[in-house]
Amino acid sequence: MPATNRPTPLPSTVRLRRAAGTLLETFKPKGDLPPTALRLAESEQRYQAVIENASDMIQSVRPDGTFEFVNKAWKDALRYTDDDLAEITVFAIVHPDYLQHCMGDFMRAISGETVDFLETRFLSKDGRTVPVEGSITSRLLGDEVVATHGFFRDITERLRARKLEERAAQLERAERARYLEKMAALGKLSAGLAHELNNPAAAVQRANSGLRETLQRRDAAMRQLAGVCLDSASWRVMEEILGKAKPHRPDPLALSETEATIETWLEDHGIGRSWELAPALAEAGITARELTALAGQLPATSLPDAVSWLAETLVFRESTEIIGQSSRRIAELVQSIKGYSHMDRATEHDGDIHDGLENTVIILAHQLGNVDVHRDYDRSLPAIRMYGNTLNQVWTNILDNAVDAVDGKGQITIRTRSEDDQVVVEIEDNGKGISADVLPRIFEPFYTSKPQGKGTGLGLDTAWRIVTEEHDGTIAATSEPGRTVFTVNLPVSPPPGQEESPA
Ligand SMILES: Nc1ncnc2c1ncn2[C@@H]1O[C@H](COP(=O)(O)OP(=O)(O)O)[C@@H](O)[C@H]1O
Ligand SMILES: [Mg+2]
Repeated sequence: MPATNRPTPLPSTVRLRRAAGTLLETFKPKGDLPPTALRLAESEQRYQAVIENASDMIQSVRPDGTFEFVNKAWKDALRYTDDDLAEITVFAIVHPDYLQHCMGDFMRAISGETVDFLETRFLSKDGRTVPVEGSITSRLLGDEVVATHGFFRDITERLRARKLEERAAQLERAERARYLEKMAALGKLSAGLAHELNNPAAAVQRANSGLRETLQRRDAAMRQLAGVCLDSASWRVMEEILGKAKPHRPDPLALSETEATIETWLEDHGIGRSWELAPALAEAGITARELTALAGQLPATSLPDAVSWLAETLVFRESTEIIGQSSRRIAELVQSIKGYSHMDRATEHDGDIHDGLENTVIILAHQLGNVDVHRDYDRSLPAIRMYGNTLNQVWTNILDNAVDAVDGKGQITIRTRSEDDQVVVEIEDNGKGISADVLPRIFEPFYTSKPQGKGTGLGLDTAWRIVTEEHDGTIAATSEPGRTVFTVNLPVSPPPGQEESPA
């Protein structure tokens, strides 16, 4: 009959009675059997049957480790026969990794202690590892332990289920962490962008706010000058001054000195609003000497209007310049955001690697702060096949680490070149470097050397996935103090007509 793990049914009371009857028969020739002996014999039979047919593995082991008895479930699980058991000790059935611990438990049991909640691994005769849990008690004769009784249950299935559960929970945790990292990166990016957009937007607002008054004052001065029919020579002098004027940014100390000189000059010549006109003139690089030359040319009564017209024209010019520059910057940022997120692109497309690199640098401008970004681009590189906007995340994560490594004030070089059928992007920083024991671990998920709350350890894991799994490329890093280089190799897109057909 094939071995099965199913417990055989308990012998019926009929069988027990029959067994007891046989016993009775055995004792009969010697005379009447005492009723207590009969009851004892029946009781022993009953317990033996219960033990033999229990679904748990039960073993009885003598203090020297040899087996006294094992039940059917034990033999089914571990495949030893009675003959085998006569040859071995209990330690032969324990997995070597658990032997030391089991010996300790066994010693405790033979000193009379009960060992509960024991979990260990047995080895079956055919070499399988059988994880079990159970307990060991001891059997006493008088004060002496004559055997230990072990009760074990095979927990293979339970461990397997537990492992699956743990694996599922671990995957869920990792997925959640990745999602949170994405959200945090997005939050950081939009905060930086908001800041980047805020600067030019505020500048436009500032420049625009006084423009109407400037224009009104300029027109008023103009009307006055036209009213007195200012001669063309005077206009020429004023145009010349305007022509030479260009906004310059001397150091604040020199500027305030010029401002003070001009303010005094204006007051000396009876020109009002000197504190407002002086900065505009000084910032445009106009000196008191030029104003004196102007005063020599004009009738004294027209001088205040002429200077006012000059100053307001300069303010107007400067404001429109600021508005122009700032709105260009805003448009550039908006363009980069569109390019960065590829809001207007299909998922799979061929493109120039530099677009993504440049968009990322612009998007990260706020984070890059005082870091010097050098470009060493080979603009003749062929297009590469891109999948969505994800490569930008790769550049973002590498640059983000580089900024951390240079502590916000070093140098980062972005280099592109071609190599065989690949486009190579190198991002180098002159930061502190990665030590030899850390280097092999940087692409591991959750590996971070940064303080809690700063690093998640998912930046390079994400970059690795995007490069290798999505773009069929490679990513690697080399480092020495003051020079860390991340190298990303990406395959050039296949020429038209030679595309792989989807599997
Ligand atoms: N340019 C670099 N210079 C020095 N160390 C770096 C650089 N880039 C990555 N590392 C190391 O790799 C680790 C893992 O990076 P990453 O996966 O982005 O996680 P995180 O930035 O959250 O720590 C960092 O903690 C850091 O120790
Ligand atoms: Mg990082």
